[in-house]
Amino acid sequence: MIFFRSAKMGNHLIIAIDGPSGAGKSTLGRMLARELGLLYIDTGSMYRAVALAVIESTSTNEQDDVAVASLADRIEIDLGGDPDSLHVSLNGHDVSDRIRDEDVTEVSSIVSTIPAVRRAMVKRQRELGQRGAVMNGRDIGTVVFPNADVKFFLDAAIEERAERRLAEEREHNPQATYDQTLADITERDRRDTTRADSPLVAAKDAIVIDSSGQSIAEVFQRMIKIVREKQR
Ligand code: C5P
Repeated sequence: MIFFRSAKMGNHLIIAIDGPSGAGKSTLGRMLARELGLLYIDTGSMYRAVALAVIESTSTNEQDDVAVASLADRIEIDLGGDPDSLHVSLNGHDVSDRIRDEDVTEVSSIVSTIPAVRRAMVKRQRELGQRGAVMNGRDIGTVVFPNADVKFFLDAAIEERAERRLAEEREHNPQATYDQTLADITERDRRDTTRADSPLVAAKDAIVIDSSGQSIAEVFQRMIKIVREKQR
C-alpha cells in the first residue's frame, strides 16, 4: 500500500464520499486524493473482491450468508497503486479488471447486504484509512468513519447515472444497453437503500451534492473549496 500524505496538512485527514452508483464518487475521489496528497480507498472494490471469491469458490453459495462471511474473513484483499492506477488483488492475484465485470457487480450488491461481511470489511477499511484517506463507498460517513473530517454525499438523477455507467460498461461490453443498465442501477439502489445493515443514507452532517447537469470539473472545484475551508 502506498501512502500519499500532504506536507501541507501533516495530519490524518479523512474525507468520506458516499452515494449511489454512477454519482461520480470514484472519479472525484481520485481527483481529490491526488490534489490533497492522500491515499484513495475505493471500498466498493473490497465488496467486489469478496463477490469474486464467492464466484470462484466451488463450495460457497452466494445465498449462504454464513459461508460467504467465513470466506470474506479468510481472503486476502490488497488495494495498491496510486489514485491514477489502482490495483486490487485477491489472494495475491491481480483482479483489478475482473472485478468490474457484470457478474461480479451483481454478486457484490448481494454479498454486501450480509452483516458479517460488512463487519469484516469495515474493520479492514478502518485500518487502511487510519492514517488519512479519501474513502468512497456507501457507509463511510455513517459507519466506517463517523468522525470523518469532511463528508460528502454525491448524488445525481438516476437517468444520468445510468448514462455514465453505460459509457463505462460499453468499454468492456459493446452490447450493453441503456434500458438494462438503468434496470440494474435501479435494483442496486434498492438493495443499497433498503438493507437492514448500514443502508445507503446521507450522514446528518454530510454535504449533499447533486451533480446532475454539472461537469466533473465544476463539482471538483466545489468539493476542493469545501475541504480547503475546513483546513483553515
Ligand atoms: O461502488 P461499487 O459499485 O464498486 O460497489 C460495489 C457494491 O458494493 C455496490 O453494489 C454496493 O452495494 C456495495 N458497497 C457497499 N458499501 C460500500 C461500498 C460498496 O455496500 N461501502
